[in-house]
Amino acid sequence: FKLPKIEGNIDFNQISFSYPSRPDTWVLRNIDIHIPAYQTTVFVGESGSGKSTIAQLIQRLYEPDEGLIMLDGRELRILNISWLRQQIGVVSQEPVLFDDTIFANVAYGRADYWNTTMEEVEDACKLACIHDFITELPQGYNTSLGDMGKKLSGGQRQRIAIARALIKDPAILILDEASSALDTTSDLMVQEALENCRKNRTTIVITHQLKYIGDSDLVYVLHEGEIVETGTKSQLLNINNGYYNKLSVEHSPHPKRRTHELDSINKRLGTPTSLQSNIPTPSPKAKSFTTLDFLSVDLSITPPPSATFSRKSWYLDESTDMDMLQETATYPKTKKPKFQFPILKLIRDTMDSKPLYFVGLIATIINGFVMPVFSFVLANLLNTYSIPDKDELVSKSREFALYVLLIAAINGISSHFKYYLLERASERWAVRLRHLGFGRIIRQPQSWFDKPENATGKVTTILTTDTESSKNLVGHFAGNVIFGMVSLFVGI
Ligand SMILES: Nc1ncnc2c1ncn2[C@@H]1O[C@H](COP(=O)(O)OP(=O)(O)OP(=O)(O)O)[C@@H](O)[C@H]1O
Ligand SMILES: [Mg+2]
Repeated sequence: FKLPKIEGNIDFNQISFSYPSRPDTWVLRNIDIHIPAYQTTVFVGESGSGKSTIAQLIQRLYEPDEGLIMLDGRELRILNISWLRQQIGVVSQEPVLFDDTIFANVAYGRADYWNTTMEEVEDACKLACIHDFITELPQGYNTSLGDMGKKLSGGQRQRIAIARALIKDPAILILDEASSALDTTSDLMVQEALENCRKNRTTIVITHQLKYIGDSDLVYVLHEGEIVETGTKSQLLNINNGYYNKLSVEHSPHPKRRTHELDSINKRLGTPTSLQSNIPTPSPKAKSFTTLDFLSVDLSITPPPSATFSRKSWYLDESTDMDMLQETATYPKTKKPKFQFPILKLIRDTMDSKPLYFVGLIATIINGFVMPVFSFVLANLLNTYSIPDKDELVSKSREFALYVLLIAAINGISSHFKYYLLERASERWAVRLRHLGFGRIIRQPQSWFDKPENATGKVTTILTTDTESSKNLVGHFAGNVIFGMVSLFVGI
């Protein structure tokens, strides 16, 4: 479902939320928020109070446990997720830049980035106050950030991220500012860039820099997952002993603030602290899955009727198949799978060079005949020496010598095709499996990546080593087994 026109009024009604990886710790508790369209709403609060979480809920990276989030009066969860994300520009706390040119890094902000023109990219960069810096680089917009990335300052990285968010001209802009102090000049530049982009759109700013909050901005103060104060800057400053007042005192680097940040880091890292000691450790039974699991399962299975769908099943559009996959990932283990050799089904469904593979198998079978037939011919050749008649000896030995030559030729040709075709077909298959696997991984909901068994390192290993093993299984291994069996039977 897509809204015909988007204003950008966002409402949180009694939202409670805990991260799926820590279900017993409330991160947000009974929150009510109104974010008015075309205005700037600011969220402040100490580190770990839940500000970035609010931004994640608006993007529907997670679903709330309780309550409803509305966009222009419609429930967020019924809206098409790709449409929704196209309406929202996000500059996250730690902007991610890709190993690509500056042009591409900005253009990626748009769904149809291949249609983006240099003019559009330049306009976005001008708004983000980074255009001048880019044009001074020797290669300008074609500078690769792979080499440059580390040389950019925090503020420059953020401004490139701002340009990326602006290029799609989003109705809603979310700016999650890093708490780490940027150097003063780039900090000012970032602020100027932000001023440029707030105009005419719903802007949500998460900041620790209270001094940049505008007089008319609506401010929400968060404390331990609850909204404790709301109002304009001047209203909040008038509350004696209020949270906002405390934050403005803590604004300069202060021991207490640092303790908060340390606390937050500890929480993120899962280091047990007194507060966190009741957090369950991940179950040791947590299943580590393999490429075969997630590819074959998806291809062969419709969800069992009894599948219980958790909140993940709210993803109703392009991610749906992956959610179902996730729900059913253990299905073959619990119910007996219909198909006994999932790898054969996988090959059938995903190998696109089957004819090549098939010819490779035939070559393997032919190659399997070579050894026993050769032994038979050689024995006959040696036998000819016992023939008393000289002429017959010569003609017979010539005949068998010719057979040996023929067998050598067949051996050469068949082993060439055996190795070349099996290797080629299985390598292409492995590449395809990697593409399919990667395509499915990037469609997973955010909560999937939070699970320890789906950590980046593990998922990458699956994509590289498991596909390599699958390749070897259908290439070398299958080839050798068939070769051995044929040799054995023919030999007998
Ligand atoms: N993916 C996650 N899984 C589990 N817990 C998380 C996750 N992300 C954040 N948290 C926890 O949720 C709480 C709120 O985090 P959040 O990132 O919203 O804080 P924040 O207000 O943005 O802090 P900061 O100002 O440091 O950015 C913290 O206790 C944090 O440890
Ligand atoms: Mg944050």
